[in-house]
Formats: sequence, structure tokens, C-alpha cells
Amino acid sequence: MDLGLRDRRALVLGASSGLGRAVAAALVAEGARVAICARNKARVEAAARELGAHVGLAVDLSVPGAATTLVETAVQRLGGGLDILVTNTGGPPKGQFPDITTGMWHEGFQSLWLSAVDAIRAALPGMRERRWGRVLLITSTAAKEPIPGLTVSNGLRAGLLGLVKSMAPEVAEDGVTVNALLPGYTATERIAELGIPEETLAEHIPARRLGRPEELGAMAAFLASEQAGYVTGQAIAVDGGFIRGL
Ligand SMILES: NC(=O)c1ccc[n+]([C@@H]2O[C@H](COP(=O)([O-])OP(=O)(O)OC[C@H]3O[C@@H](n4cnc5c(N)ncnc54)[C@H](OP(=O)(O)O)[C@@H]3O)[C@@H](O)[C@H]2O)c1
Repeated sequence: MDLGLRDRRALVLGASSGLGRAVAAALVAEGARVAICARNKARVEAAARELGAHVGLAVDLSVPGAATTLVETAVQRLGGGLDILVTNTGGPPKGQFPDITTGMWHEGFQSLWLSAVDAIRAALPGMRERRWGRVLLITSTAAKEPIPGLTVSNGLRAGLLGLVKSMAPEVAEDGVTVNALLPGYTATERIAELGIPEETLAEHIPARRLGRPEELGAMAAFLASEQAGYVTGQAIAVDGGFIRGL
């Protein structure tokens, strides 16, 4: 199926590795012009080369205002407005509620929330003007089914679903869709960092295995496609059946 993404201009945040990288790879494979970002300059530039992305930009999304500047730079480097924006960043610190300091909440809010909000705010007006746009927020199954010990993630990501639901109807008539992707346990560096053996995780997943990043990439490419123009305001899990709730 031709997803109609040839020459569409896309920016994928947090994309030198893991899920963001897989999303960028899927968009590149469909012929989109893709900009990616991450903190480590050498790694993001190498990733852009390896993926065939247009540009890799070194940006730390935990710095206030960085996401706004990033969108402006990506627009310039891609040669025009953005058609597709995929928000993503590193996972917030682990810990149960008593372990989380006010500083950690602020840090998590900046990284997980404000970086997405700022990027969307910068990208949306152009999409609405051109009457075509796709906004995708990479969150987590934790947004619907809290994961023990990931208090910051559980608390903040659920709110992002509310944001998706409030933005989507406001921009639907302009041809812009807004959706959240909820990855379940997927084999990336982040999962390795959590230090939980793969077999232990697999016991809790109906599919009995971790997801592959490209499985999320494929869903993201579909949601960014021409064909997905009537899908908006949704939270779509790619989780091997992990979320049991209706
Ligand atoms: N993998 C899973 O099973 C899973 C499941 C649910 C949700 N998630 C969530 O999905 C997101 C991505 O996870 P992942 O597994 O793909 O992680 P990953 O493999 O660690 O990749 C994270 C990417 O984001 C970049 N990044 C991290 N912090 C950044 C920052 N402050 N500014 C800009 N770029 C930043 C990293 O590059 P640099 O380090 O160079 O910045 C890297 O490219 C995380 O929020 C994670 O919690 C993951």
C-alpha cells in the first residue's frame, strides 16, 4: 500500500535510537523527508546518515524552549513547513511516590510534557494553514495502565491523552489529525536500562515477547499516512495485548 508520504516533511523527536529511530526509519522508507533530534550530536548525526534522514539535530528537550527552536530549525532545514510531527523523548526517572522530589516532577514535566506541547505549538499553525498535518505523541501503555515504580511516567503520560483529546477536535476540520501511540514493552536501550530480564517482562505480555521497534514504526507510518486522515483523537497501543482495559 502506498501511504502517500513521499516528500512529506517530518520531524521525529528523540530518534537516534529506539522507538523514535524506528518511526523515523519507517517514514524514510515511505519517501518522507525526515529530520531527527537527540542530545548526543555524534550519535544523532550518525543515525541520520544510517537512516537516510535529511538531517540529525543535536537538541536537549529537557531545556525549556529547546523544542520550539528545534521546530523552527527543522522547518528551515527541510525547506518549508512540517507535515508530520512525532513527539518523543527519553523516559523519566523511576521511583515510587515518596522517592520523587519536586525537582524530579518539574524535570519530568519539562521533558515529557512541555517539550511535546512546545513542539506542537510551533508546528500546528503551519499545518492548519496548509490544511494537512499529522501529530503523533509517543507515550506509553503507562498512560492507561500504570506501571509500578514509574510514578512520574504514570502520572504525566495519562495527562497527555487528555491533551490529545482536547486538541484533536479543534484542528480536525483543518485536515490535521492528533493521535497518541502507546508502546508496550519493546526491545530498546531504555528497556535494557530498566534492568528487568526479558523473560520476566514477557510473562506479563499476552504475546509472550517484547515488541520490536519496527512494529511501532509501522503503526506510526500508517497514522501519518493519507489513508489515516479520518483517525484522530485516538490512543493506540502497540503492546502485544498488555492493556486489558476496555
Ligand atoms: N521501550 C519501551 O519498552 C517503552 C515502552 C513504553 C514507553 N517507552 C517510552 O518511549 C520513549 C522512548 O523510549 P525508547 O525505548 O525508544 O528509549 P531509547 O532507546 O533510550 O531512545 C531514546 C531516544 O531519545 C533521545 N533522548 C533522550 N533524552 C532526550 C532529551 N532530553 N532530548 C532529546 N533527545 C533525547 C535519545 O538520544 P540521546 O540520549 O542522545 O538524547 C534516544 O535517541 C521513552 O519516553 C520511554 O519511556 C518505551
